Amino acid sequence: MTTPVLPPSSHQPKPYTGPSAEKVLALRKEFLSPGLFLYYKKPIMLVEGSMQYVWDETGKRYLDGLGGIVTISAGHCHPHIVKAAREQNETLQHSTTIYLQPKIAEYAEKLASKLPGKLKVCSFVNSGSEANDLALLMARLYTGNYDVIALRNAYHGGNAAGMAVTAHSSWKFNVPHSFGVHHAQAPYCYRGNYGYDDPEAGKKYADDVKSVIDYATSGKVAGFIAESIQGVGGFVVFPDGYLQHAYEHIRAAGGVCIADEVQTGFGRTGTHYWGFETQGVIPDIVTMAKSIGNGAPLAAVVTTPEIASVLAQKIHFNTFGGNPVVSAIGKAVLEVIEKENLQQNSLNLGRYILAGLEKLKQKHAIIGDVRGKGLMLGIELVKDRATKEPAKEACAAVLEKARDLGLLLGKGGLWGQTIRFSPPMCITKADADFLLEVLDAAFDAAAA
Ligand SMILES: Cc1ncc(COP(=O)(O)O)c(C=O)c1O
Repeated sequence: MTTPVLPPSSHQPKPYTGPSAEKVLALRKEFLSPGLFLYYKKPIMLVEGSMQYVWDETGKRYLDGLGGIVTISAGHCHPHIVKAAREQNETLQHSTTIYLQPKIAEYAEKLASKLPGKLKVCSFVNSGSEANDLALLMARLYTGNYDVIALRNAYHGGNAAGMAVTAHSSWKFNVPHSFGVHHAQAPYCYRGNYGYDDPEAGKKYADDVKSVIDYATSGKVAGFIAESIQGVGGFVVFPDGYLQHAYEHIRAAGGVCIADEVQTGFGRTGTHYWGFETQGVIPDIVTMAKSIGNGAPLAAVVTTPEIASVLAQKIHFNTFGGNPVVSAIGKAVLEVIEKENLQQNSLNLGRYILAGLEKLKQKHAIIGDVRGKGLMLGIELVKDRATKEPAKEACAAVLEKARDLGLLLGKGGLWGQTIRFSPPMCITKADADFLLEVLDAAFDAAAA
């Protein structure tokens, strides 16, 4: 097999003059939280980025197949977004929401225009965790109920509220943060009780939401929170009808439905702008982060005027949420996604890659499942297709080999057994072919 060749880039990186990777690692060990984790036996250090590519300190270029974990929507250092940030930085960097500010107002109007139904009122915060915290607060205040249903295999953030609704042992500390939170079965067709071959799987998994309401709550709930495709859980796509039935059960119990679009929003799923739309539902509250800012610390909660009005019972304030610089960036991100047809690109290339992955599955026994929508694609590795024993070590080995060949990938799933491909949405067909060639070589190497 010939060595895969990374498609060319017109970007010329600057010579790197900063501290060595060894020095940065030593500084990190001494001065940064030991809770941070690194990929790769020899950690990689990225020093420059342009669109779908990143460079390490030696000048080696990589296709960014992880996009800072779906954070880079439009492309690294996209010129239109950099220009918007620079102009706003040079004009007014911060102005509290106590004063009128044009950027946040214009941005809120544009963001709201992307959402269906009555989802028109935006609250800006700084991270996905904060967005979910605020969404849960709104759900509890609006309904007057406390219990929340979330899903197993979910990840919703690293603060107390986010961790409470997360159900993934690696991310949960043994402190009492989950009071009032109940986890229903994940609608995970590959590993769950109902498989891809069951046309009723969506409804059957949703029945577990009803069962949790009946057994574990007073019968009244504040709400339900779910990612539209489970991200950290390994890009688990729900069977058709799941959210529709789950939402019915929640609303019948007095709750509101929260869609966590932190990884799935902004056109990534290809067919739709929002992941929840792929399930044919309209949530009551939507949380978003990551891709929304293309790397800037921006996140949002968008809801209906009725639900948003609960925050007017008191003062609710967030110092940096929607400050002029991130608002200018957020608006520029929406403009790029529109102008460059990035949603369509996600659809076209997502389909193309998925077809390629299906072919690789026929060739490599280690591939148990391939799944995903648009440019959010997962490859679950198993030691044995019959037992589905997770192939955690092989997954790590595939990532190492891919890195050597110039491709950065992510991994997810409870055991770190699922490869995650979620690049900036500006990748090309040549990048897609490169990805498939690298994966082919990496699966061969992992099996050897
Ligand atoms: C689906 C989902 N929700 C929430 C979060 C938390 O976002 P943040 O890390 O910005 O707090 C993440 C982060 O990975 C996520 O994937």
